[in-house]
Amino acid sequence: MLTMKDIVRDDQASLREKSIDATLPPTKQTKEALDKMMEFIINGQDEDIAEKYNLRAGVGVAAPQIGINERLIVVHFDYEDKLYSYKLINPKIISHSVELTYLANGEGCLSVDEDYEGYVLRYARITVKAFNENGEPLKIRLKGYPAVVFQHEIDHLNGILFYDHINEVNPFMAPESAKAIE
Ligand code: NI
Repeated sequence: MLTMKDIVRDDQASLREKSIDATLPPTKQTKEALDKMMEFIINGQDEDIAEKYNLRAGVGVAAPQIGINERLIVVHFDYEDKLYSYKLINPKIISHSVELTYLANGEGCLSVDEDYEGYVLRYARITVKAFNENGEPLKIRLKGYPAVVFQHEIDHLNGILFYDHINEVNPFMAPESAKAIE
């Protein structure tokens, strides 16, 4: 199983690389990577397991964060009575709203040990095209918090970290039209 020592931190150059597409149909290695990533996220959300293995809780992880620079992400969280649990290959945002949103408490990341305060502006709504672990295409429409999570994870595939989006001069600047997610 993966633990925090397997997680690539933001002082490593590989985290800043643009990842390559995973091959389709999915290889055994791709499926195993997705399984390990999902197990890691689920373990981190289990209080007992997290304490035992010193895991941080997270809602998603991207393959570059475990040292694989391929376009794979995993998300697993409940939001407004709906479970968002996906193992995705080559996810791509194919359309997005003009409207922006942000988490009122800012974002965090398993690869970032320090706190970075400030708003990370994201699209309020996105449509993601991807392939599941069986290589079947899917299209997912997301809004609000789930849309933020997916954008955070997909950013990792392009070497982008959440704090790259925080305004240096005024970290808490947001357009009036952008909706805060509490
Ligand atoms: Ni992250």
